[in-house]
Amino acid sequence: MEDTTKLNTSKLGTKKYWDDFYSLERGNFKENPEDTGECWFNDNDAEQRMVDFVTENLAEFDNKESKVIDLGTGNGHLLFALCEDDFAATMLGVDYSEESVRFAKEIAASKEYDVSFAQADIFDASWNPGEFDIVLDKGTLDAIALSGLTVGENKRPVVEVYHTVIEKILKKNGVFLITSCNFTQEELTKIVQSEHLEVWETIKYPVFEFGGVKGSTICSIAFVKK
Ligand SMILES: C[S@@+](CC[C@H](N)C(=O)[O-])C[C@H]1O[C@@H](n2cnc3c(N)ncnc32)[C@H](O)[C@@H]1O
Repeated sequence: MEDTTKLNTSKLGTKKYWDDFYSLERGNFKENPEDTGECWFNDNDAEQRMVDFVTENLAEFDNKESKVIDLGTGNGHLLFALCEDDFAATMLGVDYSEESVRFAKEIAASKEYDVSFAQADIFDASWNPGEFDIVLDKGTLDAIALSGLTVGENKRPVVEVYHTVIEKILKKNGVFLITSCNFTQEELTKIVQSEHLEVWETIKYPVFEFGGVKGSTICSIAFVKK
C-alpha cells in the first residue's frame, strides 16, 4: 500500500520561501502596525481551538514556572493569542527563518507581549533549548514534509525523525499539540506516535462528507510523553 505520510516536495518546504514570505509581511507591518500577518489555518479557526484546548485542558501549566515552545512559530501569532487569553506560562517561539524571528520580535515589542523568540532549525543536532511542558506545532510539520530533506549520516527523511525532536524537548507528562492540514489523523498519529509519545486527545472540527467518505480538512492531536 502507498505510504501517504510521504508528500511531494514544494517551495513551501524551503527556507528561502519563508524568508521571503516574512520579509514581505515585515514590510506590510511597518506600513500598517495593525497588519500582523497571515494567521495559518484561520478558516478552520484552528488557532483559537488550539488556544482553547490549552487553556481548558492544560490549566496546570498556567503559571510562569511552566514552559511553552512553538515550533516554526512564523509571526508568533499562536503564542500571542495565548497571551491574549492570559495564559501565564513562559513562552518561546522558534523558527529557522531569521525574518520570521525578526518579525515576531517586532510584533511582541510593539504590542508588549512577554514572549521570547529565537532562530533555530529544529533538526540541528546541536539545538538544545531545554525541556518544555507544552510543545506546539501549527502547520510546521506540514511545511517540513514538503522539504524532502534528510538528516544525519543515515540520511533519514525529516518526517521520520520529527518525533525524536519532540521527545528531546518535551518533559515527561508534558503535552505536544499539533495541527496539520496535510495529514489525516491516522497519518499524523503514525508519524508522531512512538515508544514515548502516545495520543491523549484530539480537537474536533466540522466533518465534511463527499462520495460517501467522511473527513475533515484539518486535524489537531495532543500527544503526551510517557
Ligand atoms: C506553514 S508555516 C506556519 C507558521 C506558524 N506556525 C503559523 O501557524 O502561522 C511553517 C513555518 O515553519 C518554519 N519551519 C520550517 N522548517 C523549519 C525547521 N526545520 N526549523 C524551524 N522552523 C521551520 C517556517 O519558517 C515557517 O515559519
